[in-house]
Formats: sequence, structure tokens, C-alpha cells
Amino acid sequence: MNLILLGPPGAGKGTQAKILEEQYGLKQLSTGDMLRAAIAAGTETGLKAKAIMDKGDLVSDDVIVGIVSERLDKPDVAKGVVFDGFPRTPAQAEALDKMLAGRGSKLDAVIEMRADDEALVGRIAGRFTCKTCGKSYHDKFQPTKKPGVCDNCGGTEFVRRADDNEKTVRDRLQVYNRQTAPLVSYYAKAGKLSVVDGMAEIGAVTASIAKVLNGVAKG
Ligand code: AP5
Ligand code: MG
Repeated sequence: MNLILLGPPGAGKGTQAKILEEQYGLKQLSTGDMLRAAIAAGTETGLKAKAIMDKGDLVSDDVIVGIVSERLDKPDVAKGVVFDGFPRTPAQAEALDKMLAGRGSKLDAVIEMRADDEALVGRIAGRFTCKTCGKSYHDKFQPTKKPGVCDNCGGTEFVRRADDNEKTVRDRLQVYNRQTAPLVSYYAKAGKLSVVDGMAEIGAVTASIAKVLNGVAKG
């Protein structure tokens, strides 16, 4: 099964994608995480992407489609993919349709996670992530069970993102509303769109997503 988690910064895409990996054996494909890995590795793509990401703008469609296409050729995506933060423009959405069709696959569902802009700013300001496995936490809403230790992998080093400050988050929200929100009608027209309340508690959001996926599995 291939699905897209569509939603603004802080909607909970990464949080839910990690849960879906565990529950359904799917692979999370986060273009944001891939770009941050490229920056950390000092690759040419990473060097070009860093300034754009720090401003909250979108990296070019060509670069993004290139890294996704390469990722889809790896054998570990055979059971399906949770696309997290991709596609973000109509051109990326069309490219994804072609990439999947070219691999004898298709998109099964698109889940729009709706959330309120002000709440998103608060979520992002409190976010920190495990350096080892990438699991997201929040100072207030989702602390680690044991202080300083990742629940998922036992890692003890955590990072805060360079673009997680209020100014950049507001810019990212504007970019989402302008460039990515049109995908809602693109996927509604294709009959693939379901909407969940991203403002609910993390467990309740997971339950709403499970309901959608059960419906898809039954056809
Ligand atoms: P990306 O990394 O994709 O960032 P984003 O879309 O801005 O989304 P976030 O990762 O900030 O939010 P999330 O929805 O994953 O929330 P999370 O689960 O962590 O992209 C970064 C940049 O890379 C872009 O700005 C762009 O420059 C570039 N880029 C990436 N992909 C691209 C593409 N396809 N094309 C072009 N450029 C691209 O949750 C947030 C916090 O809230 C956490 O602390 C979490 O614990 C907490 N939380 C989660 N759910 C809940 C809940 N239900 N209740 C309370 N708290 C919650
Ligand atoms: Mg994320």
C-alpha cells in the first residue's frame, strides 16, 4: 500500500509515518529527512538545499523528484511507502503518479491532516528529534518516557532543526498554503483524498488514519 500524508509543517506527518512503519510494515519516505541527511553528509544536493530550507522555501522539483525516484528503486519499499512531505507541488504529484505507474504500482490513499496554524507554530517550537532514529518528540505534548532517552531506540542524543523557529515556520506555512494546498483538490478529483483531524491527540489521529486504511484495504 502506498499513501501520502499531506499537511502543513507540524501537522504530525513524521510522527504518524513512524507509527505506520511499525504497524503496517511500510517505509517512511520523508523528503525533508532525506535533504537533512544530504546536508549532514555535505553532498552537493545538501549544500544547495540548505539555504533554501533555512528560509522555508521549497527545493526545486527536479532535485526532489530525482531523490524520490532513486529511493523508490531500493528493495525495502516493496511492501509500500508512506510519503511524508512529498509531493508538495502539482508537478511533484504528477511525477509521483508516473514514477509509481512506471514501477507497476499506484497510489492507494492520500490523507490530509488538517490543523490550525497557531497550534502548529507551538508544536514546532517545542519539537526535538532523536539523532539516531529520527523519532519526533515535543517538550510538552510528547516528551520521552525516560528523560533524555529515546523511547524507540534508546538513543541519548537529540537535535532541534535549524528551520524550527517562529519566523521560518510562518514562512513555511505560507509556502504550504500557496504551493502545496492545491494538491488537496488534485487528489479529491482523483477520488483518493481522506481528511483527518490533525488537532486531535496523537493516538486519536493514528486511529483515524487506521480507519481510512482499513477502508482502502477492503476496497
Ligand atoms: P519537512 O521536513 O517535510 O518539514 P515540514 O513539512 O515543514 O513538516 P514538519 O517535519 O515540520 O512537520 P511534521 O508534519 O512532520 O510534524 P511532526 O510529526 O514532526 O521539510 C522541511 C523543508 O525541506 C521544507 O521547508 C523544504 O525546504 C524542504 N522540502 C522537504 N520536502 C520537500 C519537497 N517535497 N519539495 C520541496 N522542498 C521540500 O510533529 C511536529 C511536533 O508536534 C513534534 O514535536 C510532535 O511530537 C508534535 N505532535 C505531532 N502530532 C501531534 C498531535 N497530534 N498533538 C500534539 N503534538 C503533536
Ligand atoms: Mg516531518
